[in-house]
Amino acid sequence: MSEILLNISQLIIQNKLQLEHGKIEEAQLESELIIMHILDLDKSDLLLNPNKNITKQQIKINNSIIKKRLKRIPLAYILNYKYFYKSKFFTNESVLIPRQETEILVEICSNLIKNENSNFKILEIGIGSGAITGSLANLFPSKKIEYIATDINVNSLQIAKNNILAINKSTNLNLVHNDLLKGIKGNYKFIISNPPYLSIEEMKNIKAELKFEPREALHGGIEGHEVCENILIQLAESTVEFENLILEINPTSTQYLIKIMKRLFQSYFKYVIKDYNNQNRFILITQKEVSQYLNKFNYCPN
Ligand SMILES: C[S@@+](CC[C@H](N)C(=O)[O-])C[C@H]1O[C@@H](n2cnc3c(N)ncnc32)[C@H](O)[C@@H]1O
Repeated sequence: MSEILLNISQLIIQNKLQLEHGKIEEAQLESELIIMHILDLDKSDLLLNPNKNITKQQIKINNSIIKKRLKRIPLAYILNYKYFYKSKFFTNESVLIPRQETEILVEICSNLIKNENSNFKILEIGIGSGAITGSLANLFPSKKIEYIATDINVNSLQIAKNNILAINKSTNLNLVHNDLLKGIKGNYKFIISNPPYLSIEEMKNIKAELKFEPREALHGGIEGHEVCENILIQLAESTVEFENLILEINPTSTQYLIKIMKRLFQSYFKYVIKDYNNQNRFILITQKEVSQYLNKFNYCPN
């Protein structure tokens, strides 16, 4: 029999103190996530059972996770998953850890999809772990949607495929290994992307955890906006047609990208939408006026 050493509430405090000492942000949250992982509990079970005993073996696993975390390895790479928009996504160092603000992109897209009939295509550029497309596949299992997605990183395509099919195994999914829109043809109801958008200067100052993430998922060029700009230019110059384009952007690139979208997509409606921190984070370019579907967002028409 394993010897009983600590209970849940004691271990939460112990972990939190160690993580705070290691200058880990959100030490309380991460402490809880680690214990939830080890004991296979959800948050309410964790909070309802503060006196539940932790075995010696569980403490050993806990301590080895804390040790890795203190080396600043992101928790999502240690546990090999991250929850994003109600689903669990496998994550390792081949893919960007899905970010909370990107859930807004899913929400914007889903608000527009709700008002569409079936039988259309969605293209995602730079699928990573599959968080965005997987969340949409989860939200709209009964709509006939064909999902096409690209990534320059071949490892991410396999991870995205596994993640999306684990959420909804009948997803109509077509993954392509390529550079942005090269070789892509056709007509899409939605094109969505969260491209890399950090500048060279920002890359020099990234926090320790980001150094574990794939560089091609973060670095968007010298100024940071180059990949976004290339997507806009390639779309304007190619035969690819779209009704709605939603791009996640670096707030610092807003004015630059507004100028480009105004020049390239004169006849379209254009919106800039803010994130939870009131920062410009998304651009939406659309053939129809859609402000009635954007009420819950903090947005500005352009
Ligand atoms: C910021 S990550 C986003 C990943 C995922 N969509 C998400 O939101 O969590 C950017 C993704 O774009 C991919 N990428 C970078 N440059 C690319 C390119 N030129 N063509 C296609 N994909 C690219 C990266 O490999 C990475 O998976």
